[in-house]
Amino acid sequence: MRPHHLAALAVLPFLVPAMLSAQSSGGPAEPRRLDSPFRPPVNFVEQISPPPIPPDVTDDRRVARNYPEQPPVIPHNIRDYQITLNNNQCLTCHSRRFTEAVQAPMVSITHYVDREGQTLGAVSPRRYFCMQCHVPQTRAQPIVPNTFTDLDTLVSRPSDRGDRR
Ligand code: HEC
Ligand code: HEC
Repeated sequence: MRPHHLAALAVLPFLVPAMLSAQSSGGPAEPRRLDSPFRPPVNFVEQISPPPIPPDVTDDRRVARNYPEQPPVIPHNIRDYQITLNNNQCLTCHSRRFTEAVQAPMVSITHYVDREGQTLGAVSPRRYFCMQCHVPQTRAQPIVPNTFTDLDTLVSRPSDRGDRR
């Protein structure tokens, strides 16, 4: 053994008791009670049953988009709709062929355009997995307030108009 290894061993008897005492006394502080919206006000070590998962909004009412390019949210149940290599159940209603029969809105032309800008005869592979962009909504209450202001509201705000004149 080299001398500096021995030196390291020599401090061990002092180090270990120091670590142990740090754990018992100072150690991790008493868990704090946080009245944070992100977690219920219980101690870190307490076990509580999780709040129920809020249900999806499935009222079939199409939701206004917050900006024109937004993928519209899904207003209906999508449970068990499969999207696999050979089968895309969303397209059994939303493809051009079936929209008349089921009265579902057709996927728009952007869904047929591939990444080279070519318009294909069928839904482009990059738009095949619908849930990458389209999601259902739940009745969960937002945990942080949403301050988003729609552009229409913004441009029609009387105070802003006054400023511009
Ligand atoms: C049984 C037919 C059917 C299937 C399957 C289906 N949809 Fe729909 N979808 C509809 C209909 C009809 C509407 C119009 C609103 C309504 O009635 O719910 C709609 C509305 C939507 C909208 C809202 C469009 C808008 O402009 O607001 C989106 C997004 C959507 N569906 C996505 C999907 C996705 C993603 C899947 C697969 C996971 C899917 N749908 C499967 C029939 C269907
Ligand atoms: C890469 C993101 C993306 C994917 C994947 C995608 N979409 Fe969309 N979708 C959009 C966007 C963005 C819009 C709104 C602008 C537009 O029409 O291009 C839209 C619009 C729609 C609309 C409304 C069309 C209209 O004219 O009102 C429907 C219905 C829809 N998508 C269904 C689907 C279905 C079904 C799939 C799966 C086959 C799918 N989308 C996959 C991004 C996506």
